Amino acid sequence: EALAPKLQAARDEVLADAQLWADGAEVPAAKQPLDAGFHLLPDRLLAELKNKGAESELARLKATADRLADSCASVVVLGIGGSYMGARALMEACCHPYYNEVPPAMRGGRPKVYYEGNNVDNDAAQGLLDVLGSDTGQWGVVVISKSGGTLETAAATRIMIRELGDSLGGDQQLADYFVPVTGTSGKLFDLSKALGCQEVYEVPDGVGGRFSVLSAVGLLPAAVMGLDIEKLLQGAADMNEHFASAKPGENVVLDYVGVCHLLEENQGCDIRILSTWGKRLEALGLWYDQLLAESLGKEEKGALPLTIVNTRDLHSRGQQHQEGKRDKLITNIIVEGFDRDPLSIGESANNQDQLNELADKTLPNILSAAIAGTNQAYLEDNRPTADLICPELDEYVMGKLLQMFMLATVVEGRLIGINPYGQPGVEAYKRNMNAILRK
Ligand code: PA5
Repeated sequence: EALAPKLQAARDEVLADAQLWADGAEVPAAKQPLDAGFHLLPDRLLAELKNKGAESELARLKATADRLADSCASVVVLGIGGSYMGARALMEACCHPYYNEVPPAMRGGRPKVYYEGNNVDNDAAQGLLDVLGSDTGQWGVVVISKSGGTLETAAATRIMIRELGDSLGGDQQLADYFVPVTGTSGKLFDLSKALGCQEVYEVPDGVGGRFSVLSAVGLLPAAVMGLDIEKLLQGAADMNEHFASAKPGENVVLDYVGVCHLLEENQGCDIRILSTWGKRLEALGLWYDQLLAESLGKEEKGALPLTIVNTRDLHSRGQQHQEGKRDKLITNIIVEGFDRDPLSIGESANNQDQLNELADKTLPNILSAAIAGTNQAYLEDNRPTADLICPELDEYVMGKLLQMFMLATVVEGRLIGINPYGQPGVEAYKRNMNAILRK
């Protein structure tokens, strides 16, 4: 309750920032950079779809995705950081868990999706070329870089264009299989024009990399995988509405920030463990690790985010969480529903494992017991936990989660006096790397 007025003031500031950005007003120096545009994207894109139909960006994105899906057995998504992690989070959360391995019919006839340009790993890049070369179908590329100048992605792009040209028997059709998502100018933009690409998607000004998942950056790969991108945006739009209207105590964004902030201020919990259960939310957690670390890790402030996947990591990190330093807040993301029928343990004549007494229990029953048992163990030792509960996991819920975490990050930034946008600290390595390479 004591924090509620501050949370409300931080929310008001975030809403005012978005308005400032939307009005195209002059941004005071103290607020720069102001990448508040992410906040308005879901509502804008949905409204544009309603008003402009086939001419809207969403309709065009879907048409491009369907065209790629029809003509490609695989699509390679090139991008790094905010230009890649959101797409992967959506894939792991919403697609078949073995999306690339199952027969095409089990992924709705959509192409396999691979990621590159997110590292400089020679053997991994060669390995991907092996995979693409041994597949009988044609492959295509979606390259995502807002600046258009990120070396990891640019190097992969150059290599992939060469390989793609070879696989097509020449460069004439290259533009049909190569779709860029980039800023309104820059090296990738220029390259796209030179290659004759007709379909070039924009990362809007005022939408920073790690806040761009609900622009073409995340939407195009998601649509290639056949995900329902309108549902995704609707979840985010509904989260916007909730964020703006619900009061502290009933507002999931403000309450999450409040719990994190109070635990850090009052109990020194500056390590934020995002505890995902099952396997589908690991990439969302990695996306969030970047969002929080790169947004608030400035001026010697900012909590350390760390994603874990349980029950897997109870067998690796669990010991430290239960008995290590008291510097952690553990936030569980609990998904209550399951897409598939529950698998049960079942009776067996070979009861050496002594599991017959659990014969009627299912894997979801075991997971629920693990969550409750773990929370209880932390409670008994006075270790703080919070639960974020999702009724199920689909595009709508992912839209809500992504928007919730982005809003929470900017609210917390305003609360602790850190500008969440921009990442000046990332430039140091880039400068050095370029100088070493060009010596
Ligand atoms: O959050 C960010 O801004 C970064 O993680 C960028 O997304 C990342 O550095 C990639 O940048 P770009 O899209 O310009 O290649």
